[in-house]
Amino acid sequence: MIAPSGAGCGRSGFDFSGIIRNRTNYGSRKGSLQEKKDMNIIVVKDYNEMSYQAAQLIAEQITNKRKSVLGLATGSTPECMYKELINLNQEDKVDFSEVITFNLDEYYGLPPEHPQSYYFFMWNNFFKHVNIKKENIHLLNGISENIDKECAQYEALIKKSGGIDLQVLGIGNNGHIGFNEPDINLNTKTHLVNLTAKTIRANSRFFNTAQKVPKQAITMGIGTIMRARKIILLAYGKRKARVIEKTINSPITTKVPATVLQLHNDVTIIVDQEAAF
Ligand code: PGA
Repeated sequence: MIAPSGAGCGRSGFDFSGIIRNRTNYGSRKGSLQEKKDMNIIVVKDYNEMSYQAAQLIAEQITNKRKSVLGLATGSTPECMYKELINLNQEDKVDFSEVITFNLDEYYGLPPEHPQSYYFFMWNNFFKHVNIKKENIHLLNGISENIDKECAQYEALIKKSGGIDLQVLGIGNNGHIGFNEPDINLNTKTHLVNLTAKTIRANSRFFNTAQKVPKQAITMGIGTIMRARKIILLAYGKRKARVIEKTINSPITTKVPATVLQLHNDVTIIVDQEAAF
C-alpha cells in the first residue's frame, strides 16, 4: 500500500483545528444548492488528522450502538483510519465484539489470498487486529462462480442485518464511490462493473503494471450506499481536490457518481487541507 507522502500513522503533535463548514459557506455556486440538505465538511490539517477524526466518528457510532453495522472501504485513504481504530480497540476504548461489517467492493477474479484483494487488505490492515467476530465480517467473493447470486445474497444479508448504520467511503479521481464508475446508468444494487481506464491507471500503483489490474469488480450499488443511515467520505491530497469540489458543488450527475451524496441527509466529508479546494 502506498502511504501518503511524509505521513506515518499517528498524530504529530496534536493541533487539530478542524474547521467545520457546511456546503452553503463552502464556495457553493450561488443559489444552486439551496434546496438541498447541507453536507458536513470538516477540513483538517493533514492525512493523520483525517484518519483520527474518521476513527473517532466510527468509535462514537459503536459507543452509541454496540451492534452497529458498518460499511467499510479499502484503498490508501482509510489505511491509517484502521490503525487508529486498532489503537482504540487495544486501549479498550472501542469494542468490536458486536459490530457487523460489510465491505464496499472487491476485484473480480482475485482470490482472497491475493495481496491486492480487498479481502487480504481488510484482514491484514484491520480485522485480525481487533476483537471482531469472524461471522460478523462480510466481504464480497471475487471468485464467485455465480456473481448474480453473490450480489443478491449480499444485498439480502445487509437487509437482514438491519441495514448499514455508518458507511465509510473513499473517492476515486473520477468521482466513483465504491466501484460505481461514471456511467449514464448507475446501478443501484450490488453488481459486477467494468472498471474505467482511469481507475485501472490509478490503481496500477498497487500492481506492477496496469495489465495486472483486474478489469472488473463487484461493488455495492449507489442505492446500497445511499440507504446507509450515515456516510463518511474521506479524501486527502491535491489529486482529490477537484473531485471533492465537484462532489460538493456540481449539479448531481451520473458522470460524477459521488454527487448523488448531495441527496443524502447525513453525510460528513473529512478532507485534509490539500484536498480542500
Ligand atoms: P484511494 O482510492 O483511497 O486509494 O485513493 C479511493 C477510491 O478509488 O475509491
